[in-house]
Amino acid sequence: DTHDPTSLRTPIVAVLGHVDHGKTSLLDKIRGSAVIEGEAGAITQHIGATAVPLDVVSSIAGELVDPDDFDLPGLLFIDTPGHHSFTTLRSRGGALADIAILVVDVNDGFQPQTLEALDILRRSETPFIVAANKIDTVPGWNENENSPINDTYESQSDRVTSRLDEKLYEIIGNLSDEGFSADLYWRVQNFQRNVGVVPVSAMTGEGVPDLLAVMMGLSQRYMKEEMEIDVAGPGVGTVLEVKEEKGFGKTIDIVLYDGTIRADDTIVVGGQNDPIVTEVRALLQPRPLAEIRTESRFEKVDEVSAAAGIKVAAPELGDAMAGAPVRVVRDRDLDDVIDEVEAE
Ligand code: GTP
Ligand code: MG
Repeated sequence: DTHDPTSLRTPIVAVLGHVDHGKTSLLDKIRGSAVIEGEAGAITQHIGATAVPLDVVSSIAGELVDPDDFDLPGLLFIDTPGHHSFTTLRSRGGALADIAILVVDVNDGFQPQTLEALDILRRSETPFIVAANKIDTVPGWNENENSPINDTYESQSDRVTSRLDEKLYEIIGNLSDEGFSADLYWRVQNFQRNVGVVPVSAMTGEGVPDLLAVMMGLSQRYMKEEMEIDVAGPGVGTVLEVKEEKGFGKTIDIVLYDGTIRADDTIVVGGQNDPIVTEVRALLQPRPLAEIRTESRFEKVDEVSAAAGIKVAAPELGDAMAGAPVRVVRDRDLDDVIDEVEAE
């Protein structure tokens, strides 16, 4: 392999789906922590971001992911709300995505925001897979914690597997009705033409190794060229949230999707009126596997490269807006950068 791995950025994986179908639970399983417990009314109300390094992906996926087969640094997961009132946040999450996971509760099947998420993915031509979640709720299910799907299938009775298969084929049928040719992921040869359906349980972790293996495989196989970026170039990102942070005043949580942001950069941020031109005062990085929405112990760093979720402290951020663009000026002409931010 002749590629310099530092020039490959982390793919951004948006997790979309109807309310309560298990998006945050799935990410909690991958993170090994429970963000869901801190959510008011147990519904997600903001976009989140969590960096999962390749070594963690491979430790969860076991023999399904050999880290030597990959030179992408891992996956950056974007959690989105499924509640119907958060359409804007779902579109924003979808717009950030290189690739996506559409979470569908196997019992509930397709629901209004499942269809809405599909529309977002269709319009942005984002490749995706379907996580058919909550397989543990099939009556008679025999739990095999964190097991790959093939192993857990073998330990189920015929009645249980045929019941699950029925539900899975219903989902495959729904996808087909929406114009997506789909099949169980192990039958899919070409993931660019067919949507793979991965049975999972965010509760027991069953199928999660498969899900991660498919996401890594897809990214490496089909996204690699798009991931080749000039990492040292001026950073570009989107504001997730504007937040008051003790000792820093107003800060912005951003997803950086291109280039690098440094602790001494001048940045331009979309504001409620004019673009805000300001100097970074501190870059605050969540710990690996931490959800930026709930992280309390950020590490101060000198620079961060895409893709990453990062908190930026800077003066004058009072007028910054969620969803606004962020651009690093570096050695570019300030007026050009302001024009770009205004145009977005
Ligand atoms: P929103 O963010 O509000 O759209 O919901 P969500 O998709 O993030 O769903 P969440 O992870 O909050 O899960 C909703 C409920 O389903 C919670 O009570 C979870 O414990 C439960 N749940 C999620 N995944 C599973 C699963 O695989 N099996 C079972 N039995 N329950 C699950
Ligand atoms: Mg959620």
